[in-house]
Amino acid sequence: MADISMATRPLKEAIPSPAKISIALTVNGIRKQLAAAPWTTLLDLLRDHLDLTGTKKGCAHGQCGACTVLVDGRRINSCLTLAVMKDGAEVVTIEGLAKDGALHPLQQAFIDHDAFQCGYCTPGQICSAAGMIAEGKAKTPDEIRELMSGNICRCAAYPNIVAAIQQAMSRP
Ligand code: FES
Ligand code: FES
Repeated sequence: MADISMATRPLKEAIPSPAKISIALTVNGIRKQLAAAPWTTLLDLLRDHLDLTGTKKGCAHGQCGACTVLVDGRRINSCLTLAVMKDGAEVVTIEGLAKDGALHPLQQAFIDHDAFQCGYCTPGQICSAAGMIAEGKAKTPDEIRELMSGNICRCAAYPNIVAAIQQAMSRP
């Protein structure tokens, strides 16, 4: 005879949503203490909780690089990173690159070389380039292209982007 115990078992109690989690970050040199749902991405935390909308959401799937920021000096896709995973980290966004009113060398180089059209990918390109330069692996235009391949530009400003990065690399 068939076991009907599964059909008569009472439903489990609903699982409550997790409470917000406390997250401490240093963002562009300023210490921030936040409370966010555990599923909040670093990208959404920056844009929606801290109003740092320079970092862009393109694909939200790690495919385009528009969301690139620097975390503890390394470039990452903030759309693929839960904010809680970076508790205690140092985050630098495009808003934090200029110092004392002077543009970062990469920002100036992108202007000098007209390395954008719509500009949507540009914050991610610049943060990624800053991380790539710090990695110290790119020496040639081909290596720059390869190591920047995670940053897509729908306007296809690639030649100008590579030229801008070369300029910034040549001016420490
Ligand atoms: Fe993060 Fe596209 S928005 S990689
Ligand atoms: Fe438009 Fe790169 S400048 S997507």
